[in-house]
Amino acid sequence: MKISNRVQSLRGSATLAVTARAKALRAAGRDVIGFGAGEPDFDTPEPVKQAVADALRDGATKYAPTPGSPELREAVAARMREHNGIHCEASDVVVSVGAKHAAFEVVQCLVDPGDEVVVITPAWLSYRPMIELAGGTVVECGTSIADCFKTTPERLAACMTPRTAAVIVNSPGNPTGATYGRDELEALAMVVAAHPTAVLVSDEIYEELVYPEIDPTASAFSPGSLPALADRTVTLNGLSKSMAMTGWRIGWSVAPDGEGVVAKAMTRLQSQMTSGIPTFLMPAAIEALRLQPVESPRMREVFLGRARLVTELLSGIPRLELARPTGAFYAFPDISACLGLRSPGGRSIDSPAGFAEALLEEADVAVVPGEDFGEAARTNIRISFACGDEQIRTGIARIATWVDSLS
Ligand SMILES: Cc1ncc(COP(=O)(O)O)c(C=O)c1O
Repeated sequence: MKISNRVQSLRGSATLAVTARAKALRAAGRDVIGFGAGEPDFDTPEPVKQAVADALRDGATKYAPTPGSPELREAVAARMREHNGIHCEASDVVVSVGAKHAAFEVVQCLVDPGDEVVVITPAWLSYRPMIELAGGTVVECGTSIADCFKTTPERLAACMTPRTAAVIVNSPGNPTGATYGRDELEALAMVVAAHPTAVLVSDEIYEELVYPEIDPTASAFSPGSLPALADRTVTLNGLSKSMAMTGWRIGWSVAPDGEGVVAKAMTRLQSQMTSGIPTFLMPAAIEALRLQPVESPRMREVFLGRARLVTELLSGIPRLELARPTGAFYAFPDISACLGLRSPGGRSIDSPAGFAEALLEEADVAVVPGEDFGEAARTNIRISFACGDEQIRTGIARIATWVDSLS
């Protein structure tokens, strides 16, 4: 069978590939430490699970409205109003199969062939394929470890052209853990505001994981709350990272453009893709939103401790350079000093992919190579610290020993 050109040229997710390889090695009896997966190791809070059991018992097994039940859309809108300062109504909300689905739909709805989308890189590796599938062109606004992986209004402005359809901002960011301050985000938003046709897509999936204890300026500010850009911002969020609900696949977009144009377009698209998320998940999502003010800060405290531990341990490895993570659960060290060296197992380390493969095969530690996160990520690896302290200590000790043995 012939596979379409569109899909033939699509790369699979490197993150999921590393996770699958680590799983396979573990199944074969190897003691692999996994720093690959971007998912919290906590379990979903019990009352959320109970809500699903109750909903199923009560017969919530039929089709649900495509953009989400009215109650869930209102619960999301209430959170976005109260927590994020975004003036929105339930009709501006579309609930989808994770924030990934929301991002895919937003790009499909905003981008035409020939349009440009500015992505601040290193960036989540799914943005590029989403944009390219829509026929758009990615314009990378590259950052470096020296800037703590943050861009400036001047550099963003230099990437904007009359063909810019959207700018994607993701703070706290995957894969770098970089988190902007409120002033910095406002300044970036003003650059977008100055381009009347550009839309700001603010991916706030890690908003609950910000560490002002590490960098006092780091903030979970939502640019969609700024009047200058309120009707031209699409905010993405969901329950995966903040409520340990990655497997539930619940995310959403909020686009208060005044007429519901984006929400209606996304609903139309979704009605031809997946329809609504499972009906019995709607009450559970409402329960998760109710618990979020208590549960997410509790998890954040644990991640803060891990962010400090990872920073301390990685900073002790002379051949790695690190910008300390100030949000999310990722560290993104630079491995330039290892490139061109040879591993104890005889592999030449010529790229992050080569580094990651050799590290996994020879030291049983899974990390994600930087290449797929953008041009600005070609000398980095991503370490996800969504795992326990013991695992972090053991895994980074293995990395330290292995990196030291490169010659
Ligand atoms: C920046 C970013 N946005 C969106 C997502 C997707 O989240 P979800 O699991 O809700 O689809 C991820 C997941 O890794 C992410 O890192």
